[in-house]
Amino acid sequence: MPHRIFNFAAGPAALPTPVLEKMQSELLDFQGTGVSIMEMSHRGAVYTEVFMRTREAFRRLLNVPENYQILFMQGGAIGQNAIIPLNLLGDTSKGANQTIDSVIAGAWSVKTQKEADRYAKAGGGSCKIIANSDDGSGKFLYYPEPDTWQLSDKPAYVNVCTNETIHGVEWFAPQSLADELVARDSFLVADMSSHILSRPLDVSRYGVIYGGAQKNIGPAGVTFVIVRDDLLDRQHPLCPSAFNWRNVADNDSMFNTPPTLSIYIAGLVFEWLEAQGGVAAMAEVNDTKAKLLYEFIDNSTLYRNDVQPKYRSCMNVPFFLRDESLNAEFLAQSQAAGLAALKGHKMVGGMRASIYNAVSLEAVQALVEFMKQFEQSH
Ligand SMILES: Cc1ncc(COP(=O)(O)O)c(C=O)c1O
Repeated sequence: MPHRIFNFAAGPAALPTPVLEKMQSELLDFQGTGVSIMEMSHRGAVYTEVFMRTREAFRRLLNVPENYQILFMQGGAIGQNAIIPLNLLGDTSKGANQTIDSVIAGAWSVKTQKEADRYAKAGGGSCKIIANSDDGSGKFLYYPEPDTWQLSDKPAYVNVCTNETIHGVEWFAPQSLADELVARDSFLVADMSSHILSRPLDVSRYGVIYGGAQKNIGPAGVTFVIVRDDLLDRQHPLCPSAFNWRNVADNDSMFNTPPTLSIYIAGLVFEWLEAQGGVAAMAEVNDTKAKLLYEFIDNSTLYRNDVQPKYRSCMNVPFFLRDESLNAEFLAQSQAAGLAALKGHKMVGGMRASIYNAVSLEAVQALVEFMKQFEQSH
């Protein structure tokens, strides 16, 4: 048996072992073709079947309404931060609305706002920060609620990041907000890179949902975009053809060669997810894992997490040792105990346990057990 450790990496992150095993078993000769999945045409019958099955499973898992397209693209979520304004800001020469609103709740929404602002400014507008939970020291301990947002009268769209991977802040849009934005002829564009598929989601509250795959979906290399049909035709005339959502949608994500291996592995992850009972079943396990870890942290004298309980992420749990001089020892000992990748992001320091779908309850129990013992011996 190969040696597998408990992997708490933030992304690229743990994949379910059965997925890796299936991939291994199919690697050299994919379904009797005599070649691997990486070595065949993306337009051939064999790959087309894999692709369609994968996209359908994604739609089923999230209950994506029929009036939304699912696109598989490249360039990551950071690429989409530019691709989105190019697809949604329209033609400035025809007077298209160039006002974007952004909610800031952590490092990823900061990045998105900065990129959006460049494109909005090029068209004579701007990307306005309408709420910001930075306490002034770079700490983000809650998600700004919509009743505090300084919404523009008619923003072209509103950027949110619903799970801030670095700061461990999570939030979902309420229906009342979706309704309010409809009244303003606007909609939400949500970066869900790090919690997509962690629980059921009402897709219809968002105009666009996007993210990189390398947390809950599969390996890096594929980017998902879920976009409402009526938003597919608002491109800036200079939007690159390969990143033009209309082109991508009309060509079943094969306007250019898609990342075939990553999409195939995403399909295996979706199969695994469905076998676990889908996202509702996943949510139960995810809640159990998060509760176990946060409750332990809250009741300990050595560890702390400062995020307000209501907004704590079920996927990314940053925590700090009250005595920071123990950090190096904590990391060395946890690694030796088979618990990998617990070092916090350099922006916030401390530790972070990313407990995505593929990280089992057993892994979180082992982490808590280790933390307990480390606390007792220090
Ligand atoms: C919430 C969020 N957005 C964006 C990104 C960047 O994604 P990519 O590297 O795929 O561009 C990440 C990556 O960690 C993330 O967690």
